[in-house]
Amino acid sequence: MTGLVHSFINNGVMHLELNRMDKKNSLNSEMYQAMTESIIAAENDSDVRVILFKGGFGCFCAGNDIQDFLDEEVIAPGSPIATFLHLLVDIEKPMIAAVSGPAIGIGTTLLLHCDLVYATDKAIFSLPFVNLGVCAEAGSSYLLAQQIGHVRASELLMFGENFDAKTAKDYGLINQVIGENDYWDLAIEKAEKLASKPYDSLLTTKALMKTERATLHAVIDQEIAEFSRLLKTEEAKTIFSKFLKR
Ligand code: COA
Repeated sequence: MTGLVHSFINNGVMHLELNRMDKKNSLNSEMYQAMTESIIAAENDSDVRVILFKGGFGCFCAGNDIQDFLDEEVIAPGSPIATFLHLLVDIEKPMIAAVSGPAIGIGTTLLLHCDLVYATDKAIFSLPFVNLGVCAEAGSSYLLAQQIGHVRASELLMFGENFDAKTAKDYGLINQVIGENDYWDLAIEKAEKLASKPYDSLLTTKALMKTERATLHAVIDQEIAEFSRLLKTEEAKTIFSKFLKR
């Protein structure tokens, strides 16, 4: 377990918390690997019934580490990122996310794989892939349109502008908008309530709802191929360097 991702188990819930606030919880390869290990451990531990994913108070996750994008192989098949993205599709236990502050890039696309999402009224979401010279990932090129409709998904993925918690709620991307002081308690309450349900029924219900896993794996592979190609372009490299030199 790395210091950049914390995990512990309480009342049937694995709490998974990002801990890189100095870099706004942007995700590097070490963190993807740590999250993968924690989720696999949760899946194999009968004491864990629900996974509760938390960024940080005031910043959920600023997306992938942009410095890492300068490494052209960072998202190649078999990399910690690619492994994590495929794992998201296969998680069998219910996963809940609690969002405070910015949820950018993978910070938002990760939510498409969660079963329940609670966000504060200060949460900000964005999918800035096109503006960065790359493309949609984590199955979002398929999942987003499926969840909110094609034209809304196009607007979010092509313009890449911020949207707030009210819009996310209106679009059906999150369950509830709640105050900063209460969101964590609410997420824990919901996770523990879920953990106390008849467990076979809960898992079976999730499995029945996830009918498109094979399609999603294929979509993610295709996104990874295109993302890797785009990472190599001068246009994308110039955009990354500009962000890092601000
Ligand atoms: N990758 C690498 N470093 C990042 C980062 C990212 N995705 N997001 C933030 N950081 C770093 C900043 O470079 C800065 O580092 P420094 O203190 O060494 O200069 C530090 O985190 C704080 O970020 P800052 O931008 O000063 O904080 P802010 O509160 O003004 O803004 C964000 C927060 C999240 C809105 C802003 O950092 C941001 O837009 N980040 C990039 C998001 C993004 O495009 N992600 C990629 C998605 S694919």
